[in-house]
Amino acid sequence: MKYRIWILIFGLFSIFSGYAQYIVPGEEWLDTDGNPINAHGGGILYHEGVYYWYGEYKGGCTYRSPGVDWDCYRTDVLGVSCYSSKDLYHWKFEGLVLESDTLDPQSDIHPTRVIERPKVIYNDKTGKFVMWMHIDNYNYRVASAGVAVSDSPVGKFTYLGSMRPNGQNSRDMTLFKDDDGKAYHIYSSEENSTLCVSLLSDDYLSHSGVYTKNFQNRFREAPAVFKRENKYYLVTSGCSGWDPNEAEYAVADSLLGVWTAVENPCRGKDADKTFYGQSTFVLPVAGEKDCYIMMLDKWCKTDLKESKYIWLPIAFNGDGLTIFWKDRWLLGNMTSALLGEK
Ligand code: GAL
Repeated sequence: MKYRIWILIFGLFSIFSGYAQYIVPGEEWLDTDGNPINAHGGGILYHEGVYYWYGEYKGGCTYRSPGVDWDCYRTDVLGVSCYSSKDLYHWKFEGLVLESDTLDPQSDIHPTRVIERPKVIYNDKTGKFVMWMHIDNYNYRVASAGVAVSDSPVGKFTYLGSMRPNGQNSRDMTLFKDDDGKAYHIYSSEENSTLCVSLLSDDYLSHSGVYTKNFQNRFREAPAVFKRENKYYLVTSGCSGWDPNEAEYAVADSLLGVWTAVENPCRGKDADKTFYGQSTFVLPVAGEKDCYIMMLDKWCKTDLKESKYIWLPIAFNGDGLTIFWKDRWLLGNMTSALLGEK
């Protein structure tokens, strides 16, 4: 009897203290201060036992830009936020690690400009944390890549400027650091018709000039890259602005290609809409074999800061991968989460 009471007390304690935490895709996710996590189009860096989640810190208004005939909204971005965690459930707000420049209206990072899909990697040679991001204006005609650098994962990052990599326009993007220390910038280019993979310089601050054009005339964006057992995987979305569409994954033996498009990895209800999400990053869980988390943004296009996050486990079958919807799931229980049942 006494034993059961203790179990009950422990159960209630777990529920209220956050011990029995689940990943709950698509629902509000609060940080350790009780505020909604504001890190959209983000990516995660794992460094010395800590996960750092960087993303677009949306604020201000969101509205259809006047005179623009395609699906474009102005998104006042206040900078790039960072949250830290050791367990991937509880996230501490580390502040805006790259802040908007409110003083100079011409600045790439003025709040009226667009800063999207920031990603951070660590350079072992220089000891610097390097952030790349999509820089644009309200009608998305700038199509450039910006770079910032910091001595610490929690900033502040110093903004160094923007460029068009390899002379090409660059919008949705991600970074990938390979096991040999080489790093790549993967970006939608040629008005989103092509996805470029570009080797960065040794300090990660510029482009080396070595790059490939992939999926020409296939209009893929929102790239998320990972490596498993010497194969590289790339998950992308189609181009439909903030509205969801069907994801696709591709496989390659080298990051520079050749990439072979496979199929939509999503299965079940709403799989053709990527469960109303759009890819942003794939996180390998540190020290866990075959534990990869697909991170998607569930955009709220009328108020982007209200956008939610969809995190789902990736299942592997040989070289193939599948993603099932889960109402909620436990990280420590990824194997059963991968079975496909709710
Ligand atoms: C999406 C893109 C987002 C954002 C949006 C603007 O296609 O993935 O990152 O750029 O368009 O409409």
